[in-house]
Amino acid sequence: MKKSDFICTCRIIYVPLRQKNNITMQTIQLNNGIDMPILGYGLFQVPPHEAERCTREALETGYRLIDTAQAYANEQGVGDAVRQSGIPREELFIVTKIWITNAGEERAARSFEQSLRKLQTDYVDLLLIHQAYGDVFGSWRAMEKAYADGKARAIGVSNFQACRFYDFASVVDVKPAVNQLQCCVLSQQRTILPEMARYDTKMMAWGPLGQGSDDLLKNPVLTAIGAKYGKTPAQVALRWLIERGIVAIPKSTHKERMQANFEIFDFSLSQEDMKAIEPLNQQDTGFRDFGDPNYLRRILGMFDL
Ligand SMILES: NC(=O)c1ccc[n+]([C@@H]2O[C@H](COP(=O)([O-])OP(=O)(O)OC[C@H]3O[C@@H](n4cnc5c(N)ncnc54)[C@H](OP(=O)(O)O)[C@@H]3O)[C@@H](O)[C@H]2O)c1
Repeated sequence: MKKSDFICTCRIIYVPLRQKNNITMQTIQLNNGIDMPILGYGLFQVPPHEAERCTREALETGYRLIDTAQAYANEQGVGDAVRQSGIPREELFIVTKIWITNAGEERAARSFEQSLRKLQTDYVDLLLIHQAYGDVFGSWRAMEKAYADGKARAIGVSNFQACRFYDFASVVDVKPAVNQLQCCVLSQQRTILPEMARYDTKMMAWGPLGQGSDDLLKNPVLTAIGAKYGKTPAQVALRWLIERGIVAIPKSTHKERMQANFEIFDFSLSQEDMKAIEPLNQQDTGFRDFGDPNYLRRILGMFDL
């Protein structure tokens, strides 16, 4: 089997982005032609008072893609760190997401203006619908306008499962550049790839480290593969996504882990390694049941913006 067989059906272009500690970051090209780093830093469950410190340390480590969301309540801290970093805005790739309670054309537009203010920037690089609930078509109209106005360089969705994704992408004018999904070695998201390939929509993996589960971080298969390259199971799991052309956005509040998670560009996985990881797939479409009303009730209660 050729290495390319493992890579998702989208066209991936790798170009050197930046040298940091002898690491060459890679980018992939979105369906509107803009480049996105293939590795980023995520801030889910980073408390507001920690967001500035964590983002600053991630930027110091070399991350240039920062993934936040209205529901994380930490856009302000991200904005503070970005402003203080002195890094030219065009070198950064900032992602935020419109929360369910802000769905609909007017609310989405208004809430996005608030996000821009908190992030202290004139534009984001990628704006996503966070979950496929509520008036997503209204939100999309607001997002298409933001895109046309240059306030979002690309727009996309998150947690849109295969049928929902097709239903949505087949009718909207601007096709989603990204679908951010739970994806890791334990949840490989293979079945949705052909649907996303129709629109050249790239996958961005949330929970790339299994949200810190021992099933992944102490996995014997990943441990054995990592031993060959002097890498940890976490690094093998992240590299496995990169090999498939999937953007990974690991989160850590610890600088040494941010650094370890960044050190995945100095080795590659063999065809045999990739084959050995395939059977780790426990739940292809992820571990959340998005069709369960109790799930929706629970998250609405969790993030009452
Ligand atoms: N679109 C969505 O609905 C959605 C949902 C969830 C997440 N996301 C995005 O995806 C990002 C990543 O997902 P996630 O944060 O849920 O999970 P994750 O990145 O898979 O895992 C994070 C967990 O792993 C730990 N960890 C990180 N690096 C480690 C390492 N090298 N060794 C051992 N443990 C390590 C972290 O602990 P410490 O912090 O203590 O180091 C944290 O508990 C989020 O931050 C967010 O930006 C999006």
